[in-house]
Amino acid sequence: MVLAEVGTGGPTHHNGAVESPPPYARSFRPRRRALPPARAEAYERDAPRWRLEVFGEPLRLDDVFGPDAAVVLDIGFGGGEGLIEMAAARPRECIIGVEVHTPGVAKVIDAAETNEWEHVRLVEGDVLDFLPRLLPGSLSGVRIWFPDPWLKRKQQHRRIVRPSVTGLLVDRLRVGGTLHVATDIAEYAKQAVGVLDAEHRLRGGVVPRPEWRPETRFERRGLAEGRTPTDLIYERIT
Ligand SMILES: C[S@@+](CC[C@H](N)C(=O)[O-])C[C@H]1O[C@@H](n2cnc3c(N)ncnc32)[C@H](O)[C@@H]1O
Repeated sequence: MVLAEVGTGGPTHHNGAVESPPPYARSFRPRRRALPPARAEAYERDAPRWRLEVFGEPLRLDDVFGPDAAVVLDIGFGGGEGLIEMAAARPRECIIGVEVHTPGVAKVIDAAETNEWEHVRLVEGDVLDFLPRLLPGSLSGVRIWFPDPWLKRKQQHRRIVRPSVTGLLVDRLRVGGTLHVATDIAEYAKQAVGVLDAEHRLRGGVVPRPEWRPETRFERRGLAEGRTPTDLIYERIT
């Protein structure tokens, strides 16, 4: 049976593995959702081709995608609509998508399988657990589109855009690579600008909504509820 079973702080049971509590605050909400049997069967069959393990040795991305690939890390791709649209639109840009919830992972695996996408790989788990596998300077981009907002003050330490995380992400960006955050929570956008402006290796700020960024379910829901998205794009300059 395929289950997404994750915690916000205590022991993690991920695909049967039991891990020690993480040394950092989890940035996602636990959910437990089984795939319907037909989907689960396809997932079990196809996942090994597309999935990168969360834990393990440092990854040589040349071995995964071929030499000199431009690789973007898509953190928290949710249902996968945005990742799928970007993978179709930019076949020369490689994507490592990371998501803790199995249904979205299964959906992208379906699309990768159907389209024979050699430029897409997926990680099912917490990006903070996976980051040690990525070498410094190995990424050309990082996307964090509509991160979980954690609105209550006592939960805000869980926000993924926080100095301890963005520092690790910038380590893995090559000089000239970009970090792109989009959120429709105005106060989160403001906080993110503060965090990213304070990172001396980055330069950038708020940009007009890029027309190439796909509109996802989360963005549509926000627009319907009267929220407008803010896009922040920062480049690693040193
Ligand atoms: C609000 S959704 C947005 C999904 C998608 N980016 C979009 O725009 O439709 C945020 C997603 O980030 C995922 N997420 C949050 N923290 C994560 C982490 N540390 N590692 C991997 N995924 C994470 C959540 O599971 C959730 O699916």
